[in-house]
Amino acid sequence: MPHLRASTLTRRTFLSSAAAGVAASVLPLHAVAAEIPLPRDYRLRPGPGTVRLVPAPWNETDAWTYSGTVPGPEIRVRQGDRLRIVVENGLAEETTVHWHGIRTPNAMDGVPHLTQKPIAAGDTFVYEFDAVDAGTFWYHPHQRSAEQVGRGLYGPLIVEEAEPIRVDRDVTWMLDDWRLTRTAAISDDFGGRHDMMHNGRVGNTVTINGRVPESFSVRKGERIRLRLINAANARIFALDFAGHEPAVVALDGQPVTPHAPDGGLVVLGPAMRVDLVLDLTGVAGGRASVVDRFYEGLEYRLVDLAYGSEPLRQRAPDWSLALPANPLAEPDAANAVRHEVAFNGGMMGQMVMQEMGGSMGGDDTSGGMMGNMAPMRGMMHGDGIWFVNGVAAEGHILEPMLTLERGKSYVLAMTNATAWHHPIHLHGHSFRVIARNGRPTRYREWQDTVLMAPREKVEIAFVADNPGDWMFHCHILEHQASGMMGVIRIA
Ligand code: C2O
Ligand code: CU
Repeated sequence: MPHLRASTLTRRTFLSSAAAGVAASVLPLHAVAAEIPLPRDYRLRPGPGTVRLVPAPWNETDAWTYSGTVPGPEIRVRQGDRLRIVVENGLAEETTVHWHGIRTPNAMDGVPHLTQKPIAAGDTFVYEFDAVDAGTFWYHPHQRSAEQVGRGLYGPLIVEEAEPIRVDRDVTWMLDDWRLTRTAAISDDFGGRHDMMHNGRVGNTVTINGRVPESFSVRKGERIRLRLINAANARIFALDFAGHEPAVVALDGQPVTPHAPDGGLVVLGPAMRVDLVLDLTGVAGGRASVVDRFYEGLEYRLVDLAYGSEPLRQRAPDWSLALPANPLAEPDAANAVRHEVAFNGGMMGQMVMQEMGGSMGGDDTSGGMMGNMAPMRGMMHGDGIWFVNGVAAEGHILEPMLTLERGKSYVLAMTNATAWHHPIHLHGHSFRVIARNGRPTRYREWQDTVLMAPREKVEIAFVADNPGDWMFHCHILEHQASGMMGVIRIA
């Protein structure tokens, strides 16, 4: 997939030499090439296509694809590489590409109107940025994303460590959830009010890498690094690996102290990633079902791990699980400036607000936002269904809800005053999740998308070190489209 083109080399060499005030002709080519790393070139063409999501005898499905496939082509580079991605819009409408979780410069973030002009049908836009962090990331449109992502536009973006941990296989499972009709067509009821007010567009067909999976072949004794990416509009997963004991080694691309998932379930809200080290400890020739248990009473078998008859080794290897840290600035939580963020709205929102406002009313250490819950009801504005600090966003050009000073540490104390889960995503940064419901977290994990349970309070901390206007929103795409979005300015 990646290909270097001679024209790129020549042009870049010339431009950089010229910028340095040196005549390009007198400089030996190889000397310049050694100083300026060549970008890894990719080409993505969003456009209509036909894919086989469900096996025959069902029909193939008309979808929107990147370069003809769902997921789109895997972009895979080394940490420190420069990426150059030419996006040629083959859709009949505007689009952009957002590199979810990658700390790009603001102009490369792919947010329509806010960071770039949307790419018109037939037009081309070139994204170029450095892969500063190693880890598991992904890309997707940010224009009308509920429908564009929902129709199949997404792909994996893997940045390899210079020295990755040792495993037998490095595997990516990009999970998605589709709402298909009886003929395996994508149901075109995007933007439905019921989905917006409740838990989003939860579908009826779950795919791994664009296919309803039957089984996944493994061998006894094998060690797999399993990169899970949730590309669904709304479905939350809680995966039970059937007696296996996976270790969580990274969240949202960022290394975390290796640990067993809480309650044995690997939970991923929309847009979240989990890297697991999975030791295949079952019996040769055996089978084990990976089950999704997130929605009570709606458990289903996602896929079977099918063991071959020949073991690879008798027991799990004892290789290290610890990934090297990424170059993230450590927030100074003790001296950080604190801001309260309240999420409101949705079905039963009034009830939850009353209940939380009531129970917090007498507690002035809890901060103004919750104490002021009752008056806030009258203050909310916007036509949306969901509100961030009383405002329902319409479109991407918004007055910043917060303006932060570049280089300073901040804590956002977030309250989910709704009856629903929300995966909250901040662009351009990774943040530490430092507390949940007032209790410090065990691993102070770095994330870019944090799943908040109904009524939960979550505190995150980060250094505002990437200047620009950054989206801050729920990644249930129907919630985002109906107001649950804001802009944080770093100046
Ligand atoms: Cu993955 Cu603002 O998005
Ligand atoms: Cu939400």
